[in-house]
Amino acid sequence: MTTLDATFTSDAKPAGYSLLQISLHWIIAALVIFQLFFGESMTHAVDAVAEGTVLAASDAWLAWFHYWFGIAILALVALRLAVRLTRGKPPAHSEQPYWTDMMARLAHGLFYVLLVAVPVTGLLGYYVEGPFGDIHAWAKPVFIGLIAVHAAAALYHQFMKKDGTLIRMLRPTA
Ligand code: HEM
Ligand code: HEM
Repeated sequence: MTTLDATFTSDAKPAGYSLLQISLHWIIAALVIFQLFFGESMTHAVDAVAEGTVLAASDAWLAWFHYWFGIAILALVALRLAVRLTRGKPPAHSEQPYWTDMMARLAHGLFYVLLVAVPVTGLLGYYVEGPFGDIHAWAKPVFIGLIAVHAAAALYHQFMKKDGTLIRMLRPTA
């Protein structure tokens, strides 16, 4: 397979993540954590409109950010998936057992599903009647659980196994 072929398949194995991939990882992570912390302001805003009650100014601001940060996440994830599918990702560490590599792939796949499905259900909850707002809110504990496991795994790899996993999400390769 030529380098050009490898570049256009998701099986491509670059030496590390690119500056764009690393920037997108951390910008999206920061935005998602903001959404999880302050999402209830959007629930208060939706409830205030439905019940005709007055909304606190802080909730109105935070709901505005929730809306636009959520849409920004969706747009950035579309870019991120495009880069991921064309450039690929670095290979698993060679000494890593097959099953832990599979767990990491599963966790990363679930992240991508959530990163698309959560903003989409948010938009549907905002504009369309139905169960979408509730489905959107249920994603909160799933997201938090996955982030906790993912961050713990990254720190375990970096500081216990000392295999440079965290470093490769900080230091870009061309
Ligand atoms: C990854 C992006 C997003 C995350 C992580 C997120 C997270 C959350 C969280 C944690 C809540 C509070 C749930 C609760 O009250 O327990 C919430 C509520 C809400 N969010 Fe999002 N959100 C995201 C994107 C969006 C987008 C793009 C919209 C579109 C307008 C949106 C609209 C809403 C609405 C309408 C509610 C109120 C749901 C209800 O109670 O009916 N969200 N969100
Ligand atoms: C909302 C928060 C986060 C989300 C949505 C997220 C999502 C992801 C995704 C989807 C990947 C796979 C990248 C790919 O191959 O396409 C990844 C990789 C990675 N993440 Fe996160 N992440 C988050 C937070 C964190 C945190 C807090 C840490 C560190 C403590 C971290 C460390 C890493 C590392 C080191 C990798 C590279 C793993 C490898 O090379 O095999 N992430 N993350």
